[in-house]
Amino acid sequence: MLPDGELMTIDASVIEKGLRTLLLKPNVIVLDTVDSTNSYVRSLLARGLTDEIVVLADSQHAGRGRQNRCWHSPLGGLYMSLTLKPRLPESRVAMLGLLAGCAAADAIHQMTGLDAGLKWPNDIMIREHKVGGILSEAVNISDGTTIVILGIGIDQNTRLEDMPAEFRDRTTTILTESGLETSREELAYKIVNNIDARLAVLVSDSSPSSILDEWMRVNVTIGKKVQVNDGERVIRGVAVGITPTGSLRVKVGHRDIEIQAGDVLQY
Ligand code: BTN
Repeated sequence: MLPDGELMTIDASVIEKGLRTLLLKPNVIVLDTVDSTNSYVRSLLARGLTDEIVVLADSQHAGRGRQNRCWHSPLGGLYMSLTLKPRLPESRVAMLGLLAGCAAADAIHQMTGLDAGLKWPNDIMIREHKVGGILSEAVNISDGTTIVILGIGIDQNTRLEDMPAEFRDRTTTILTESGLETSREELAYKIVNNIDARLAVLVSDSSPSSILDEWMRVNVTIGKKVQVNDGERVIRGVAVGITPTGSLRVKVGHRDIEIQAGDVLQY
């Protein structure tokens, strides 16, 4: 028995037992600390790894977020990276980040009953506060195939006091919202199961509408006034939808502008 508040390390066997997947059969790798689970997977791919894996770490000391930002990764959070070998047309590969966002938001809801939504593209939100995010990276390996690394970070059993002060007013954690410490293993296998179920539909469906429909149902961006910085310009308008490849459509006056990647402020 550990003293109150002390975290046990993640138990890979609990994750393995919880997996109920049709397509994905990942080997589970658990680390105590690492620079970044996504970077760790990249290094394994560079060394010729071909098996599907899911890597989890108790903490990261160089966690990476979208747009080259840092992902603060203290003990208690869920930090995981899953490899996928999607046999999908290029246009659908772009949707895997949205798919992972839907899968993670659903897993949080299944586990806690909390209402988790998605801010474009795939920030996981509870009560307009960010609780998690997805970093999706495509890597070409030596045999010419593309592997997608889905990096998922969730502020699960972390306390707001563990977050940098400047993030606290726009961030939350599952612990803060539910008042309960929850199992990282359970959240991890539920996310993988949810990704697998959606992937099965995406590979068999003749149109990608199921993921887009789900994203539209759970998103908290469409219909809002937004300011989007796509790295080159700042666009102000109203978010009116997403394209079949997941770009955000923003109405600016009479024009519809499509944004592939960027940061959104919404009002
Ligand atoms: C975002 O900016 O919202 C995406 C954050 C993604 C963080 C996760 S934590 C596990 C994986 N490893 C990383 O270095 N980043 C992702």
